[in-house]
Amino acid sequence: MRTGEAGTPTGEARNRERLRLVIGGHVDHGKSTVIGRLLADTGSLPAGRLDQVRARCERTGIPFEYAFLLDALRDEQRQGITIEAARIFFETATRSYLLFDAPGHVEFLRNMVTGTAQADAAFLVLDAHEGLRENSFRHGVLMSLLGVRHLAVLVNKMDLVEFERTVFETLSGEIQRFLGTLGVEVVRVIPVSGREGSNVVHRDPRMAWYDGPTVVEQLDRFPAEAGAEAKPFRMPVQDVYRFPRGGDRRRIVAGTIESGTLRPGDEVVFHPSGKRSRVLTLEAFPPEDRHVARAGEAAGFTLAEQVYVPRGEVVARAAELSPLVTTRFGARIFWLGQAPLEFGKEYVLRVGTSRGTARMERVVRVVNASTLVVDDGKSLVERHEVADVILVSDRPLAWDPPEVCLAMSRFVIVEDHRIVGGGVIRAVAQEERQNAPEGNSLVGRNA
Ligand code: GTP
Ligand code: MG
Repeated sequence: MRTGEAGTPTGEARNRERLRLVIGGHVDHGKSTVIGRLLADTGSLPAGRLDQVRARCERTGIPFEYAFLLDALRDEQRQGITIEAARIFFETATRSYLLFDAPGHVEFLRNMVTGTAQADAAFLVLDAHEGLRENSFRHGVLMSLLGVRHLAVLVNKMDLVEFERTVFETLSGEIQRFLGTLGVEVVRVIPVSGREGSNVVHRDPRMAWYDGPTVVEQLDRFPAEAGAEAKPFRMPVQDVYRFPRGGDRRRIVAGTIESGTLRPGDEVVFHPSGKRSRVLTLEAFPPEDRHVARAGEAAGFTLAEQVYVPRGEVVARAAELSPLVTTRFGARIFWLGQAPLEFGKEYVLRVGTSRGTARMERVVRVVNASTLVVDDGKSLVERHEVADVILVSDRPLAWDPPEVCLAMSRFVIVEDHRIVGGGVIRAVAQEERQNAPEGNSLVGRNA
């Protein structure tokens, strides 16, 4: 129970600062190629691997692709680089990175809620020749729902547009306008060619007009998201285990710490039940003397006074800001279901490790995630739409506004065991008044 980040490649990397970065973009716009290039040109590949992949391509007559490097390295664990599923660990001289190659929408949402895709920063890859496509928009929306605050756009395949500055600038303006309407600030737009290796690690004289950072320079410039430890303690209860020694009545409350720190002696409150107790010991496997458990770690602790708590409760510290416990939520949602999100219908709502039943009470505003057309008059939310809605659960759920604890503001909606939507709870929603004027139902916290 030492670390919440499974698959850490080396002991050394574990102790270094690590930035988590998600890479999204429309299909075939070059995400894998850019990552392959980044690994190759930073010298991150195992010796001889590039030649090996090239030789195999020659033998089989398939034109070489930098994207093949990712497949060739899959399931391999080495010093400096590890690739598993869509996660790539690698290091520069400055720090280590966990790159998350964003797959389809459903995986994106699922990972978002389980925390595997929690990202400090993001690259959105755009094909210079094709321009903005549906998934450029949708991934932008998802990144904003993920709470990614630092986003850089890579305008890729610049070789296909003769490295033209005007093409780059037009696209750059379009994407910044779009992301701006979602409240996402674009920190940088970089013209690149993954295939040619331009502006990934090395500069290209054919784009002498560009004097901003390369992709790898931009990586090292993203500020590390500090402060998760300084925020109020939050740990959704994953499970409660019996103490392994015979006859011992104590139990171990286990979960992954989303924010804050916990020490023996701390008074804790479970939400939404409101039960209180005090931390007796922090448990670890293998056993070790622990004095503090921190954000990002998987943790387990025993209590001084036994209380019964089920999975799904959230542990907070009595001395700190409490999570909100409500049944009504003002939420921004991204809908993926084949059938629309319907008024009054029952869905499963998952926040942290809790599951409840919820209904959508009102659509405040719908935005089509591909065209950005805003519609105030709708009562349904259809596939690939983003909407501000009021959700009502059948029993109180504990959550936080994104600025307090992003992980505790995220939710997914499940129907027939499938994730059909997800998003962020942004505000407490008040009881509807009769004839309330439009737009007044989303109010701030603690209202
Ligand atoms: P998915 O994972 O399927 O969504 O695609 P992707 O975004 O990872 O794209 P990928 O890297 O597989 O590249 C798609 C195609 O675009 C491949 O045939 C690449 O060779 C080509 N491509 C990628 N980058 C460039 C580039 O900079 N220039 C040119 N001309 N082609 C490129
Ligand atoms: Mg790919």
